Amino acid sequence: MKHITWVTLNLVIVMYLFQAVVTCNARAMGSAQKLRVLAAKYHVTSILVFGDSSVDPGNNNNLQNTWHKGNFLPYGKDFGHSHPTGRFTNGRLSTDIIAEALGYRNITKAYLDRNLMEEDLLHGVSFASGGSGYDDYTANVTNVISLRKQLDYFKEYKIRLRKLVGEESSHMILENAVFILSMGTNDFLQNYYVDPTRSQKFTIAQYQRFLINCMETYIKEMHSLGVRRLAVVGMEPFGCMPLIKTLKNSRKCDEDMNQVALSFNLLLKAKLSALEATLSMRTAFVDIYDVILNTLRNPSKYGFTEIEKGCCGDGLTEFGTSLKGLNTCTDHSKYIYWDAVHFTESMYYIIADEAVKSIITSL
Ligand SMILES: *[C@@H]1O[C@H](CO)[C@@H](O)[C@H](O)[C@H]1NC(C)=O
Ligand SMILES: *[C@@H]1O[C@H](CO)[C@@H](O)[C@H](O)[C@H]1NC(C)=O
Repeated sequence: MKHITWVTLNLVIVMYLFQAVVTCNARAMGSAQKLRVLAAKYHVTSILVFGDSSVDPGNNNNLQNTWHKGNFLPYGKDFGHSHPTGRFTNGRLSTDIIAEALGYRNITKAYLDRNLMEEDLLHGVSFASGGSGYDDYTANVTNVISLRKQLDYFKEYKIRLRKLVGEESSHMILENAVFILSMGTNDFLQNYYVDPTRSQKFTIAQYQRFLINCMETYIKEMHSLGVRRLAVVGMEPFGCMPLIKTLKNSRKCDEDMNQVALSFNLLLKAKLSALEATLSMRTAFVDIYDVILNTLRNPSKYGFTEIEKGCCGDGLTEFGTSLKGLNTCTDHSKYIYWDAVHFTESMYYIIADEAVKSIITSL
């Protein structure tokens, strides 16, 4: 049964691609077929992403009133021929690399990309927005796209997809899609620690549970919208960010903050198992905490030489619009962090590797 629907689906996609090729160019056909074979191996029709700057390919570009943007150099310096897209890194994000490994494309485009073509909808898009979090208030602090709003865009996406390939095929595409959810850090760094609204109301432990409840609500909604395979990325050891070390005036990672991330991840993992047991949905927990910490502890093993600061500017404080036009280090691949907050593409490769492993085993 599964096999038959998969074959039918591939046929639909191939027919669509063929149509596109006839009207566009012949070169796309060869690469489309090659990628289709790869994707067929894992039955992944498309990658659909919700989250924050770790997975935002440029949805924030046209937002008003936010400094949370990355559509200028040196962001994107190693993307294609030096092309800033809105990604908060030098090259591709983990979700781009995952799409290449499991899906049909070497990038995952932003849903709000003005050059997005209808055909792109077949292979997945990202609804993520830098600065967003599980708590909708987090997105409000920086005027970016909340998870609630990202889900609204997903609903709109579904309507467009149905118009494009019909009811049955769009259903199959969604059923075979891998969904990725990656956020949580901003709920602490941009909300709880700096804004009294939540911190006056909740202790850290209470706020963690509040975030998990928000996540649960959204995952249930995703399920009701047809999400069947969901990978949730855990929190990173954010106490190790160059920005945090600068604020704490220390060369060591902030252990209290790392503990917050670690205990949050435990709650998240338990909630995912519970949700998987009650909903007809497969979930994967992508544990990036250990991967990142191990890399920070043994940088040379992964070819890194600089773990204290980011590659751009002073590497200690700048990110977002404050990065505009700054100089970069010479060898980008030797740095774990690109700015004071976000990783380099080299680090995103390592993270993507972990994500692909857990997606293949659990989904
Ligand atoms: C993706 O692949 C296309 C076609 O092979 C290539 O032209 C493009 O540079 C690649 N994009 C990135 C960001 O690697
Ligand atoms: C965020 O802002 C919107 C629009 O101003 C508002 O409707 C919503 O209640 C706010 N959400 C939170 C959690 O504060």
